Amino acid sequence: MNFNDELRHKTERIETILAQYLPKEEGYQKTVLQAMNYSVTAGGKRLRPMMMEESAALFGNIEEISALPMFMAALEMIHNYSLVHDDLPAMDNDEYRRGRKTTHVVYGEGMAVLAGDGLLNYAFETAASSFDGATTIEDYRRAASSMQILGRKAGIYGMIGGQCADLEAEETESAMTDEMLLFIHEHKTAALIQAAMMIGATLAGAGQDDVMRLEKCAFNIGLAFQIQDDILDVTSSLEVLGKPVGSDEKNHKLTYVTMHGLTESGSKVKELSEEAIDILSSFSRRNLFLEELVRQLIYREK
Ligand code: IPE
Ligand code: IPE
Ligand code: MG
Ligand code: MG
Ligand code: MG
Repeated sequence: MNFNDELRHKTERIETILAQYLPKEEGYQKTVLQAMNYSVTAGGKRLRPMMMEESAALFGNIEEISALPMFMAALEMIHNYSLVHDDLPAMDNDEYRRGRKTTHVVYGEGMAVLAGDGLLNYAFETAASSFDGATTIEDYRRAASSMQILGRKAGIYGMIGGQCADLEAEETESAMTDEMLLFIHEHKTAALIQAAMMIGATLAGAGQDDVMRLEKCAFNIGLAFQIQDDILDVTSSLEVLGKPVGSDEKNHKLTYVTMHGLTESGSKVKELSEEAIDILSSFSRRNLFLEELVRQLIYREK
């Protein structure tokens, strides 16, 4: 199978897994459930669950890891909650996401806040449901350790921390430094990719050293990913991207692109990604699909 066919096949499988774990739209709280599902079923690249599964495949047989689908769904729920809140008028104030109107435009701001909160809680409930299928102490240990990684990387020392610095930086535009920008990228974006790769490895039984090497690898992937996102915010179009371009400029956001220009930003994406691929290819098992995925992300158009 060529890379694109394999990518499509794997993305479709992830869609099926996600559908299985989304809540049923019923009861007096039906509207918030609809708003949650509206956001998650809108498509997207499904990169985080994919990277989780591919990282697990570096260390074990994914068919045998019963907790994996629950954690894949949980991480995609958290990613989606971060996007629903990121698009709110109080944050980036964007009206399109994945080619559709954003959740707050369709359901109202209050419901979008609740949909994000709902997705975050349901993510942990879903991840914790993996304990039901645990049979050995080792299964429990891996699931517990994965919950810890998920909480940390999504929270105040991860994505939320990065979104905080990102938001504040809009008001102190002139004081932006490379160090601050690195903090923002590492936390708002790389942290959830780190969660993906570290949890995949942990559930597959990887040792602490290997998990830490993947953490560094995902750090590079995340930085490259955000720089590319910032490039596309300048060079792409709503039609191709599915979300508005010029969002960063509108919000007076200083990015790698505004600080270093498009050419240097492009080189940085390449450099960071190649370093990540070097790390990936140094494990005793190789995952050529994952290596190619990281390579393809350098040139992604959406
Ligand atoms: C968008 O993430 C937010 C960033 C961290 C730049 P993605 O580009 O992975 O969004 P989807 O899930 O494919 O829509
Ligand atoms: C978002 O960064 C990172 C999140 C944690 C959601 P952006 O604000 O650049 O993401 P987009 O461009 O809206 O997807
Ligand atoms: Mg933002
Ligand atoms: Mg945004
Ligand atoms: Mg962006």
